[in-house]
Order: sequence, then structure tokens, then C-alpha cells
Amino acid sequence: MVYRTLVKPALFRMDPERAHHLTIDALARLGRVPCARDLARRRYRHRDARLSTRFAGLWLENPIGMAAGFDKNGLAVSMLTSLGLGHVEIGSISASASLGNPTPRLFRLPDDEAVLVSYGVPNDGAQAVRDRLRGSERRVPIGVNLVKTNDGTPPTRESVTGDFLDSFTALAPLADFVTLNLSCPNTTAETDYFDDIDRVGELLTALGDHDPAVPIVLKIKPTTDRGRLSDLVAVARETAQVKGIAINLPSASPGDYSLVGRYGSVATRLGAVSGPPVRSLIDAVLRHLAEILGPRSGIDLVAAGGVTSGDDAYRKLRLGASVVQLYTALIYRGPQVTSQILAGIASHLEADGFEQVGDAVGADVWSG
Ligand SMILES: Cc1cc2nc3c(=O)[nH]c(=O)nc-3n(C[C@H](O)[C@H](O)[C@H](O)COP(=O)(O)O)c2cc1C
Repeated sequence: MVYRTLVKPALFRMDPERAHHLTIDALARLGRVPCARDLARRRYRHRDARLSTRFAGLWLENPIGMAAGFDKNGLAVSMLTSLGLGHVEIGSISASASLGNPTPRLFRLPDDEAVLVSYGVPNDGAQAVRDRLRGSERRVPIGVNLVKTNDGTPPTRESVTGDFLDSFTALAPLADFVTLNLSCPNTTAETDYFDDIDRVGELLTALGDHDPAVPIVLKIKPTTDRGRLSDLVAVARETAQVKGIAINLPSASPGDYSLVGRYGSVATRLGAVSGPPVRSLIDAVLRHLAEILGPRSGIDLVAAGGVTSGDDAYRKLRLGASVVQLYTALIYRGPQVTSQILAGIASHLEADGFEQVGDAVGADVWSG
């Protein structure tokens, strides 16, 4: 109620990026107050033993996580890990600090509960985030999402591998899992370096020796090209450290989707659209990946894209996702959306006769 009636109207009157910064700043400040963290935890935690699950070898209290891109710099970890989420992913973070793309670069598409983003991965750089993470309290596992520094130069093997090595060396020791963002849709680079799948293998080989204990998740560009997905899975399988695959947003303009709202000149801007418009594409990619991997593959799937309800999350679980992440729904619906989604999942488990949420994972793909 407080979010819907007070916080959201105030934030939605501001420029979206300013609202983003203010929200992070407020959460960072609140996170420094122990009783605020405790209060948030009591208010937002949804306790239900049936929802506890395993992901990438980690135990999670529930399968709903915060997606990368909200807390890019690990400023609000103490508070975010007190909001009832099962895990929190920070980043994307690169070896060097980057200002990202020119502004404006974040737009609301309110009639569709969606967002257009072309941030271009601005962040404070790995060293700054490492120092910050060392001082943060964490109550749930933390994923650290790494990306090549957006310095405007065309990526080369040396620059990409070197950049990931530096950020990985700095941050992997502080992470419960590391996500490699292989498809940042909003950089200015024209060619997508990792379209050549051999380069994914090269990067994994280079990282393998550095912190072999931390689970790695590959965040890939969405495609329904089954051959490409099979090739990616084959590369992932070659490295035992790869424990997960996540699906990023595609590069697009709002005009590429059939949207409810009309957004004038924003409709033709290039970036990535998040929220309900991408839901069906992500679900399709998820199904392909689950079919290719099969059950008990040792590589878990992470799904994000248009999850606003328990129904959305449960469908992604049944399509093979071990965990489901949120971003845009938190903007439009506030922090209480997590417990609403968890309650929705629990009702579905009951209706379908599953004892644990893990029993529902892949039910639409792997059974029968
Ligand atoms: C404003 C914004 C910034 C994002 N930044 C990143 C990022 O830096 N790295 C990344 O891997 N994903 C990023 N994402 C993608 C999200 O992690 C997630 O995959 C996507 O938003 C789909 O989930 P949603 O529909 O619940 O928002 C960003 C998304 C949004 C909306």
C-alpha cells in the first residue's frame, strides 16, 4: 500500500534514471540501520519450507531473486538481501569504471508495465565494488554479474579476456556465484563478440584457473535458434565450473513489440525492452534450453523476463527454470510483489500435488 500510494507516484513523477539512483541511495542508507533491515525482513519474508530449493550447488530459501541491473554497484546489498528474495544478483560490473551510454537511456513504458533501457553498463568498476562488498551484510546468497568494460573500443580477444580476468579475480572470492554477461544488449559496440561461440570456450578456459570453486552462470543472448543453443550448451558442458545458464534481454525497440501504449519517439529508440512484452520470447528460449539440457544436467536455468505474478513464475519453473529473477515488476509493483509471487507459487504446488518447488522444475518439459 505504501509503495503504491506514496512511493511509486513520487518516483514516477521523476526522470526514470534519477528515480533509480534515489531508490538505490535510500535502500543503501536504510541498509546501514540494523533495525530497518530487521523490520524489512519481518515485513517481506515469506516463510514456507516447500519453497526452499537448490541452485548451482547453493541452498536458497526460495526460488525468486533480484535480477542484475538494479544494484549495479553493490550499494544496497544489506537492504536488498533483507527484502524476502532468495538471492540477489548485483552488476553488471566491469574491470574498469564506465559512464555507459549518453543520457537519456532509461524510459518507462507504463501502459505495458515495461521499461526501455540503453544504459550501456555504467558502473564503478570491480575494485570499488569489491571494497564495498567487503563491508556489506548479506542474508541471502549474492550473485555478481560481470561484463566487459564499455570503453567504446571494438572488443578483441586480449581486451575481453583481460577485462573479465581482472573483474573475476577481484570479485569472484566475494561472490556465491558469478554471472558472465555474454550479451549486453545496450553497449555501443556494433558486433557482438560472443556471437562466435568458440570465444565463450576461450573465456571459460582463461577464467577456469582463477577461482575454481565459485559457480559460473552464463547469461546469453536470447535466440530460438536451436542449433546455436545446442552449441552453447556443449561449450558450457565442457567446463565443470559452469553451473547455470541465464537468458538476457534482446536488443530491440518498443516498436518491435505489439504494445498497449503509444510512446511517440521512444517507440523507435534502440535498447532492450524488459517486462511483460518479452515474457513469451524468454519462455520459448527457456523451453529449448531445458529440452537440450534434459533433467539433472548439473546446469541450472535462470529465468527473468516479464514475471509479475505467481502464475508467471510458476510457468517458468515448469519450463525448467530452477530460479526466477525479477526487475521490472519491482519497479511497477514494489517490494511486496516477491511475497505475492511466492504465495502464488505455493498455491500452484498444492494444486499440482508437488511437495517441494524443485519437484515442479521442468514438469512441462521433462516428464511424460
Ligand atoms: C534498467 C535495467 C537495467 C539492466 N541492466 C542489466 C545489467 O547491467 N546486466 C544484466 O545482465 N542485465 C541487466 N538487465 C536485465 C535484467 O537483469 C533482466 O534480465 C531483465 O530485466 C528481465 O527481467 P524483468 O522483465 O523482470 O525486468 C537490466 C534490466 C533493466 C530493466
